[in-house]
Amino acid sequence: MATVTNAQIKAIPGWFGGLDVPAFRLLLAETAVRLGGDLAELGVYQGKSAVLLGAYLNSGETLTVVDLFGTEASADGNKRENAEQYPNLTRAQFEHAYQRVHGNLPVVIEGYSSSITQYAAAAAHRLVHVDASHLYEHVVTDIESARTLLKPDGSRCLTTTVVATRRGWLRRFGKRREAECAPSCLRLKSYKGYPDHGSNLRV
Ligand SMILES: C[S@@+](CC[C@H](N)C(=O)[O-])C[C@H]1O[C@@H](n2cnc3c(N)ncnc32)[C@H](O)[C@@H]1O
Repeated sequence: MATVTNAQIKAIPGWFGGLDVPAFRLLLAETAVRLGGDLAELGVYQGKSAVLLGAYLNSGETLTVVDLFGTEASADGNKRENAEQYPNLTRAQFEHAYQRVHGNLPVVIEGYSSSITQYAAAAAHRLVHVDASHLYEHVVTDIESARTLLKPDGSRCLTTTVVATRRGWLRRFGKRREAECAPSCLRLKSYKGYPDHGSNLRV
């Protein structure tokens, strides 16, 4: 395993911070010892959380990451969030940041997060970090992909923001979370609603 300092993580732009770092360190270290297996991340931005995942790889384990890296999304909401929040993101930015810390690269997939199951092995992962699109439907798909990838005792970690696009989303998400997310480190930073879709909940 490599060592990645909190200062190295802090130097990379992004939103992964506060409790995320110690919580992930604990989960990654414990699963490395107790479970073993691959790691995956859906949504990397410039690599802030990916460099931490990469530090906890045992010999023979693989980290697979997926991101659109600036490719235009097809869904309007996804297109809008990417244009607003990640303008000018490139794959080279991520690869440069990751390589500066680790001297190598993980398996990098440029595409939709939903494609992860085509590239990463099913039932082989000990931890999957879900942090890509914020649209309800996409987050649900990503959680399901994580379930496909995980070993029975693996961890699904969400540090995402869920954006409401229609009424009833919170109830449905809550039910799904209860039914399908355990065991997980579940930290939903916020819920945002679009008033034009009739939902303006904020939690
Ligand atoms: C919140 S950022 C990820 C932050 C990163 N995990 C970190 O901690 O620094 C979300 C990322 O997901 C990517 N993304 C957005 N929609 C996506 C989609 N449908 N499929 C794949 N990646 C997507 C964006 O390009 C962006 O890099």
